[in-house]
Amino acid sequence: MSTYVDNLNWRYATKRFDESKKISKKDLDTLKEAVRLSASSYGMQPYEIFVIESPEIKEELRTAAYNQPQLTEASHVVVFAAKADVTAEDVTEYMENVGETRGIPTEQLEGFSNMINGAIVSRAKEEKAIWAEKQCYIALGNLLSAAANMKIDACPMEGFDATGFDKILGLEEKGLHAAVIATIGYRSTEDQTQEYVKVRKSTEKLFTTL
Ligand SMILES: Cc1cc2nc3c(=O)[nH]c(=O)nc-3n(C[C@H](O)[C@H](O)[C@H](O)COP(=O)(O)O)c2cc1C
Repeated sequence: MSTYVDNLNWRYATKRFDESKKISKKDLDTLKEAVRLSASSYGMQPYEIFVIESPEIKEELRTAAYNQPQLTEASHVVVFAAKADVTAEDVTEYMENVGETRGIPTEQLEGFSNMINGAIVSRAKEEKAIWAEKQCYIALGNLLSAAANMKIDACPMEGFDATGFDKILGLEEKGLHAAVIATIGYRSTEDQTQEYVKVRKSTEKLFTTL
């Protein structure tokens, strides 16, 4: 059994995927569950996630991603779409979920709700959008780790035109904005980059123990 760190060494930002290999529904469900369980600030999960398997949509997305081949060669494209604004209604919806899930009357959640409204909802829209995008990156990180542990390849990507993605996927109408994406599938044997040695800061440079 390979260890967690072995799997993180195995993974790399895959440039060329084997188009003929598709992720099974079972594995896709596991990946989705890993992403669903991501931590987020206050537990708000201020995003929606789109899993694209349609070849036609993948083709369109590729043109909006500077023609990067991963978009069409990978089995699936995962788009993390952050809320463009975070409102009091979002907090109410979240409180309903907390109340239902934990069997707590919503009146008892007023303090928690006020706290989120004060700390987050009251901020400027642009600031909230950045906050929401940050939460997307935590979910992205979970996807990358989960995929590596299942020996599924992935490429995290910021190299795309977010406005173009918003248009193709109709995100603006939904109050969303494409924050970051990942392509997932199986590496092509022809992808030279799988041979590259990992470049990382040394432990000494990266960590300070006080
Ligand atoms: C947020 C983010 C955005 C990235 N965008 C791209 C991208 O658009 N295209 C690409 O080929 N790689 C992209 N990468 C991959 C990085 O270049 C890669 O993760 C980094 O060089 C470390 O290498 P490794 O992941 O193979 O270990 C991105 C990585 C992250 C985390």
